[in-house]
Amino acid sequence: MTNTKVPGAMTREMVMVHTAFRREFGFMPELVHGVFEGDRHRAEIISDHIELISSVLHRHHHGEDMHIWPRLLERCPEEILPLVHGMEGHHEKIAAYGEDLTKQIAAWRTDAGVAHRDAVLHTLEDLLPILTEHLGMEERFVLPLIEKHISADEWDGMVAEGAGETPPEQLPLMFGIIMYEGAPSAVQDALNNIPEEARPVITEAAPRLYGDYAERVYGTRTPPFGSSRARTKVS
Ligand SMILES: [Fe+2]
Repeated sequence: MTNTKVPGAMTREMVMVHTAFRREFGFMPELVHGVFEGDRHRAEIISDHIELISSVLHRHHHGEDMHIWPRLLERCPEEILPLVHGMEGHHEKIAAYGEDLTKQIAAWRTDAGVAHRDAVLHTLEDLLPILTEHLGMEERFVLPLIEKHISADEWDGMVAEGAGETPPEQLPLMFGIIMYEGAPSAVQDALNNIPEEARPVITEAAPRLYGDYAERVYGTRTPPFGSSRARTKVS
């Protein structure tokens, strides 16, 4: 059966996910900077947080690489080709910073030392401007092409695959993170991508789980939206 979406639905869903990345990554330098020398408990919480959100970003990019880029290259090469180089360069740099972060976080976890903490901090500060530029370019230049050339079934296939690759126990929290700043219509679209029988459970659990999570990470169940503020330097 061929699915349809109202015009702009895919754009709203993508922007909702990007907004969550801007918020969660945007606050990371402050969170890291706020961990005192030797506070292993807090270093663990923030390390787990960075790894979790980074894994969501990785799956997001992987889904786009598999489902979006090849189709756009085939269907509208003259429009997408000028963008491919820059976007691929971003993906490579973001992946390289992700690898650096994995190593630096592993070191930070061992002693919660300030030198290890600051290595994580500096990588985040390098990553953020590229990530911000990447998300912005995708919204500005790629989303209009997605609306034109990608079908609702193809889009939903990408989202469903991403959900399938997410550890099941993480799924309700993932939705909570993504839905937190989402427009109701975008939230509904995202929920429509999960099996009908799972929707009530996720709808009920997601905001509560994100509240619990945010309290642990940010010290409040309602972190500021602030997704458009640039937070790249705290040191
Ligand atoms: Fe994206």
